Amino acid sequence: MTSVATLPARDPAARRPRPRSYLMCRPEHFEVTYAINPWMDTSDPVDRALALAQWDALRAAYEAHGHSVEVIEPVAGLPDMVFAANGGLVIGEKALSARFANPEREKEGPAYHEWMAGRGFAEVMAARETNEGEGDFAIAGDRILAGTGFRSARGAHEEVAEYFGMPVVSLDLVDPRFYHLDTALMVLDDTIAYYPAAFSGPSARLLAQMYPDAIIATDADAEVLGLNGVCDGYHVFLTDKATALAEQLRARGYEPIGIDLSELLKSGGSVKCCTLELHRVRTAAGSGTD
Ligand code: ARG
Repeated sequence: MTSVATLPARDPAARRPRPRSYLMCRPEHFEVTYAINPWMDTSDPVDRALALAQWDALRAAYEAHGHSVEVIEPVAGLPDMVFAANGGLVIGEKALSARFANPEREKEGPAYHEWMAGRGFAEVMAARETNEGEGDFAIAGDRILAGTGFRSARGAHEEVAEYFGMPVVSLDLVDPRFYHLDTALMVLDDTIAYYPAAFSGPSARLLAQMYPDAIIATDADAEVLGLNGVCDGYHVFLTDKATALAEQLRARGYEPIGIDLSELLKSGGSVKCCTLELHRVRTAAGSGTD
C-alpha cells in the first residue's frame, strides 16, 4: 500500500539553501559512440572541450553556492560515466552501487562501487536488480520516488526499500525520451516539479494526489530536459533553456541558476544526470533526508 501523505507546504519566503555533497565525474572520455536513448545520435559529433568547459562551470556553480563536490576518476571507454547520478544511491552511511541495463554502461557499476568502497561508508552493496541509481530514484524527504519502464527494474524498487528501510513509491515511465525518472521529475524543497505525459495514467494520477501543489512543466521545458535539475532547498540548478520553468520556480520562492550543458544533452543528460548527491540524514529539527 502506497502512502500518499503530502509534505507540509513551506512559506516560500523561508526557503534556505542547505549545504550538499555531490559526486561528479569529469567528461574526459565523453563521446556519443552508441545510442541507448532517443537523444543520442552517433552521426552528430560532440565537442569534448566544450563539454569539459560546461561541466567545469556546473561544478564551479555548485561550489560557489556552498556545496562540496567530490570527483570520481573517469575511465577510458566509458563515455557516459560523466552521468554520475546513475552510479548508485547514497543515503547517510549506506551506499548501493548501480547495475546498468545496457551492456555499453555495464562496467560503470563496478567503477562506482569501487569509489564507494574506498570512500569509507559503513555499508556498501552492489545492486542485485537492474538499478540506474539516482537516474531512477529520487529521494523526497522520508520517502523515495522510483521510476521503471526503460532502465531500472521494478524489483529494484523493492531492493532499495529493503536496503535503505524507506518507503518507495513506484512510478511507470512511458515516453522513451524520458527514459529515467530524473528526466521527468525533480524534487524541490516541499514539493516536486514534473511532466505528467512522461508517466502512465495511474502514475500521473498518483503524483497529482501526492503533490497537489506540484509545478507542472511545459512541453517545451520538458523537451530540453528542464526537469533534470538539482535543488538545494532554495537554489535550483537547471538548464538555462528551461525559461518558463525558471519563472515558475521563481514564483514559488526558489532561485533558478541557469547552466548551459548543451554538449551533454547530446547524450540525453543535463544537470541532475551529472550529479550524484551524497544524501545526509537529518535528525534534529525536521526529520527526513536532504
Ligand atoms: N547516455 C546516457 C544513457 O542513456 C545518459 C544518462 C543520463 N543520466 C540520467 N541520470 N538521466 O544512459
